[in-house]
This record gives sequence, structure tokens and C-alpha cells, in this order.
Amino acid sequence: MAVTYPGEHTEVLVSADQITHKVQQLAHRITLDYKDRPLVLVVILKGAYVFAADLIRYIDLPLHVDFMALSSYGPSSRTSGVVRIQNDLNDSIEGQHVLIVEDIVDTGLTLNYLFGHLKARGPASVRICALLDKPDRRMVAVPVHYKGFEIPNEFVVGYGLDFAERYRNLPYVAVLHRDAE
Ligand code: IMP
Ligand code: MG
Repeated sequence: MAVTYPGEHTEVLVSADQITHKVQQLAHRITLDYKDRPLVLVVILKGAYVFAADLIRYIDLPLHVDFMALSSYGPSSRTSGVVRIQNDLNDSIEGQHVLIVEDIVDTGLTLNYLFGHLKARGPASVRICALLDKPDRRMVAVPVHYKGFEIPNEFVVGYGLDFAERYRNLPYVAVLHRDAE
């Protein structure tokens, strides 16, 4: 694997094949649940864009995609507990069925905030789809309607997830080990 950085190494946790299979299953459930109702996917940047790009190709519904950039993490892997909207949606979601697409639920602070925030904009419904879930780290409850994988309390990278902007291009999810620690 060519993606290497000094003092760090990665260990595969969820393979590309496992991800593909799960993405197809999730998309199938979403397609059945919403029947022919139009859907607005709210993709949380940057981490969820790879997941969302794969997911939408298996969802057989009329849908729109919009993006939101939030920050709860600084350049390090520690949460600040503060959620900020860095870039808002382009379009109104009033009266729309909204599905938030997120890479990972960790403390839950980000999605807890966003869920309440988007509901206040008057959508017909709001649900959450997250590829990864770290239940051991949860600080606030979050209703994740569509969940990919539960993972242990490890810092993971790849398939869109980063550490200090690195590793987003790994085609799998891996645990990041830092040799100095
Ligand atoms: P929460 O608010 O603590 O649930 O944090 C959610 C956000 O933190 C995710 O959208 C990710 O951007 C980031 N995050 C949490 N855990 C990890 C991880 O293991 N690797 C990379 N990013 C993570
Ligand atoms: Mg994120």
C-alpha cells in the first residue's frame, strides 16, 4: 500500500468488500423505506463524501444531494465538544424528507446538534445514516436509523475519514497507529 506517512501505520478494520456489501444493503433498505418519495441527502463534509458517493448509486429513488460542513474536531483527533456550521445547505429542506449521511458517530455531539437543528427547519422527516458507530464513546443519544458497522473505541481512517486530512483515499477503513505513542 502506497499510502504511508512517517511514524504512523494502519491496520485494516473493515475491508473494501465488506464496505461495498454493506453500502448496497443500506441503500436497498433506504429505497424500500422511502418507496417513491423524493429524498434529500444531506452529506456531512468532508468525512462522508466517499460513503455518500457510493451510497447514492444504489438508492433507487428520486433524490437531491446537498452538503453541509461542520466542525467538532480541530486538527487533532480530540473532540472540542463544540459544533459549528462552516458551510450551510444550498437549498431549503422545508417539507422534504431528509436523510443525513455521516461517516461516523463517536460522542454523538455532532449529530445530536445537527438532528435538532435540521428538524427546526420544518422538513417532513429527518433520519440519519452513518457508516460507522463507536458506541463506547457516546455522550449523547442519537437515533441512527441506518447504521453500517459498530466498531471498537479506536481512531480510524480511510474511506473518507481522515487524521489531520491524511488517509481519506484509503479504499478501506483502518485503525491508525502512531508509533510514537
Ligand atoms: P462526534 O460529534 O464525537 O460524534 O464526532 C463525529 C465526527 O468526529 C465525525 O463526523 C468525524 O468527522 C470525527 N471522528 C470521530 N471519530 C473519528 C475517527 O475515529 N476517525 C476520524 N474521524 C473521527
Ligand atoms: Mg464527520
